Amino acid sequence: MTPKYKLPRGTFDILPDQSKKWQFIRDKFQQICERYAYFEIQTPIFEQADLFERSIGDTSDIIEKEMYKFKDKKGRIYALRPEGTAPVVRSVVANNLVQPQNPIKIHYMGPMFRYDRPQKGRYRQFHQYGIEFIGSDDPYIDAEVIALGDTFLKELGLKNYTLEINSIGCPDCSGDFEKALKEYYEPYKDSLCNDCQIRLDKNPKRLLDCKVQECKKISENVPSILDYLDDKCRIHYDSVKKYLKDLEIPFIINPRIVRGLDYYSQTAFEFVDTNLGAQSTLIGGGRYNGLMAQLGGKDYPGIGFAGGFERLLLSLEVEKISFGESPSPTAFFVFLGKKAKKEGIKLIQQLRRYGISCDFALQKESMKAQMKAADKCKAKFALILGDNELENNEIVVKDLALGSQQKIGLANIIDFFNKKKS
Ligand code: HAM
Repeated sequence: MTPKYKLPRGTFDILPDQSKKWQFIRDKFQQICERYAYFEIQTPIFEQADLFERSIGDTSDIIEKEMYKFKDKKGRIYALRPEGTAPVVRSVVANNLVQPQNPIKIHYMGPMFRYDRPQKGRYRQFHQYGIEFIGSDDPYIDAEVIALGDTFLKELGLKNYTLEINSIGCPDCSGDFEKALKEYYEPYKDSLCNDCQIRLDKNPKRLLDCKVQECKKISENVPSILDYLDDKCRIHYDSVKKYLKDLEIPFIINPRIVRGLDYYSQTAFEFVDTNLGAQSTLIGGGRYNGLMAQLGGKDYPGIGFAGGFERLLLSLEVEKISFGESPSPTAFFVFLGKKAKKEGIKLIQQLRRYGISCDFALQKESMKAQMKAADKCKAKFALILGDNELENNEIVVKDLALGSQQKIGLANIIDFFNKKKS
């Protein structure tokens, strides 16, 4: 049968047999955030398009090419969120969530949307987990934010990743760096891709992000931002590195990290999977000290990161880390006869109300088929009820792992499972 409807390109279903994995990593992220005292925020999946245009920047790929932008029935221009930081900062401003000396620590998860060319690890609807710390520019916070990301990846069991860090300076020091970049690229202008030729005029830092082979080659000997940091940014950067050492988080310095969004300043970092090919950035983040003021709030500094669940799952698969097995019912009922089934479904409801997971095979009649179904769903016990047992107020309980079986009184079932729990 050919399905009548196709999924939009770059999207996918999370099917029931994969859901447990997703739930497991979502729960893990949430637990770790709570351990570091970050609490959850949820924002809508669409916002005024202008929010993203202002914060992410006109010359970024996200704004230039990838936003799902639409008009609603009243002509208002919205966009499906391509990322979570701008909406979080919007909400922090609107709800006055940061006070002097009282920063806010937030985490979030959910679908994001970017109209990019889909490939392994890159989708049009993908799912991010992220955190934001707004209200302090203390370099310790940079290290703490990074530490949370590292703890998350480590506790999932990942080994083959590295943390790369950089400082991209602030508006005061990036002027000279941009000038140096322009001077460096100018002689190669005609060999750059069309996008980079435009970037060279509008926002030369974006050239460092380009994935086109020829541009990458030209960028090999590009000046390093680290040679252009002013004293304030250098001291901050050195201090972040010191804190990372204190917290025993290994890192490598990568002066090429510029990040694809315009709101960043000072610290920028990425956790990169050393096994994955093209889409290897598991987590990307950095400081965004001017963003809150830019979005109409007080001038509180911020820092955060986000990672994609899809890439995380790919990494876990490559490292052969398995988790999140599908749950199996404790009790699988096998009914022999109509009367047993009629009474049995009442019993099932009673047990479910009591917190015991039960199931049965509605459309199977023979004992063999029902026992097969019990095995297939990896139930712990088969509870066999025939008309004879019903007459004697009994039920046969078979331990499917051990193969042993016993008869127990119907009135004692809950007791039986309670004893198994303790
Ligand atoms: P980003 O680097 O654009 O940063 O995205 C963060 C992560 O989301 C990437 O490292 C990747 O794991 C995942 N990701 C991005 N695009 C896709 C895609 N098309 N398909 C699958 N996964 C994807 C941000 O979004 C910033 N808001 C991060 C941040 C938070 N900075 C400060 N706070």
